[in-house]
Amino acid sequence: MIVVLVGYMGSGKSLIGQLLAEKLDLSFSDLDTLIEADQVKPISDIFRDKGEIYFRATEAKVLRTYVQNNDHTVLALGGGTPCYASNMELLNSSSNIITVFLKASVLTLANRLMKEQSKRPLLAHVNTEEAMLEFVGKHLFERNNYYNEAKLHISTDTKSPEQIVETIIKSLA
Ligand code: S3P
Repeated sequence: MIVVLVGYMGSGKSLIGQLLAEKLDLSFSDLDTLIEADQVKPISDIFRDKGEIYFRATEAKVLRTYVQNNDHTVLALGGGTPCYASNMELLNSSSNIITVFLKASVLTLANRLMKEQSKRPLLAHVNTEEAMLEFVGKHLFERNNYYNEAKLHISTDTKSPEQIVETIIKSLA
């Protein structure tokens, strides 16, 4: 089984993925980290040097290689991965893969992303709390249809990381 976590930037995919993998005794991978290893540079440099279209093509390639060559793992996607290259179709067409959407409100995401904005090229131009709320609100509206394709949906706003992991484990059973 491969458990694949999807959700917007700041939804906790990496943290929850690591905790979930520990609990289930699976290995953990982060797609952004795999892309950085493949390209031997940080995500922000890939966007700057090669642009988003190149990044999306690389993301789709690294994802396909990963699912073909791994099992018994938890994988955290990037926030945009479900929205490109028929990636959700690919993941949902495998009976060995379960996609899990970590759902958080615009307010929760915007507050978190104000603190982590520098790591994310798509947020480089968003400088105030008001602009962040507006950006995340619109962007999430565009992306929600893709996230909603995930097999499991977990609301995270009022839960601790441990409670989120427990909820996922119960839903997997
Ligand atoms: C992106 C999210 C990032 C990373 C890239 C693009 C997006 O991953 O893949 O900056 O399009 O939402 P995180 O969701 O881990 O921040």
